[in-house]
Amino acid sequence: MDEQLIRIFEENPDSFVSGEQLSTTLGCSRTAIWKHIERLRQEGYVFEAVSRKGYRMIGKPEKLDIPAIMAELETETFGRTIHYFDEVDSTNTMAHTLVKQGAVEGTLVIAEKQTAGRGRMGRAWHSPKGKGLWMSLILKPRIPLQFTPHLTLLVAVALCRSIRQATQLSAGIKWPNDLLIDGKKISGILLESSADDENLQHVIAGVGIGVNLRPEDYPEELQSVATSLAIEAGREIDRKELLKQFMLELETMYKLYHEQGFAPVKALWEALSVSLHTQVRTQSPQGLKSGFAVGIDDSGALIVRQEDGTLTKWYSGTIEFGAP
Ligand code: BTN
Repeated sequence: MDEQLIRIFEENPDSFVSGEQLSTTLGCSRTAIWKHIERLRQEGYVFEAVSRKGYRMIGKPEKLDIPAIMAELETETFGRTIHYFDEVDSTNTMAHTLVKQGAVEGTLVIAEKQTAGRGRMGRAWHSPKGKGLWMSLILKPRIPLQFTPHLTLLVAVALCRSIRQATQLSAGIKWPNDLLIDGKKISGILLESSADDENLQHVIAGVGIGVNLRPEDYPEELQSVATSLAIEAGREIDRKELLKQFMLELETMYKLYHEQGFAPVKALWEALSVSLHTQVRTQSPQGLKSGFAVGIDDSGALIVRQEDGTLTKWYSGTIEFGAP
């Protein structure tokens, strides 16, 4: 129905189409037409409505120009094969399917909209149409299984650096891999891996960046905790430029890691982190834990000094800032 509606408006670019005309052509009530138009508005379509004349479509959501991205990419392998979708359940799920079909390292899955985007800890990931970068990159790292957390931090570093370069905004990393601007989340990373005995077979690096969402694009429960690059910068951000930059940063960091190990990644992560030298707390199965974050170790775990002065390590979870 939405596609038929859009086609009718595209065929009549300069004239108004009345609600009555639309309901006759599509065989539904005028109220149903109005509901569809409201939904399309939420997806970024812009309609002019004039009483007794009807509707005219004057704007469409911006779509990623994949051929232009492919032509301008500066990477060797990352993003050199792109599977682009207007809508998908989750790019991570699609990437798993593509791996089974033999997709090579560096294959990128990207969608304008996800209907079942996944976040960490089983949470849903809000992914409205044309407003963000919702993507998954297929990696086949040549590292032992126990080093998988390094990749989580590596992706965060590449993402943070590319956001800073593309927007001049001072994004920072909250352990392990959330990206924040002024305390609000702008991006999340979900790494899903598959292993066979001690060998890592592949990793799907799922990345969601809130690029051009407006405050009203967020559900109420996210409005105080999430923000977008456009909100922070006060202008629309070019998704193509950000994506190109991210692919390049990620490929560079990935090569560096395979050549020199975790040390350079760790140093960059620490320099970009907003979660060190501050009071932190987290919920664990044993209850609330808290302390002062002093660094990360060689496995990527957060080193926390407890009130009694002893050092402890946190290997996973979500941290909050401040004393309990
Ligand atoms: C988090 O909870 O912070 C991680 C969010 C990861 C979201 C991205 S969007 C693209 C990819 N596909 C998914 O279903 N999730 C990741």
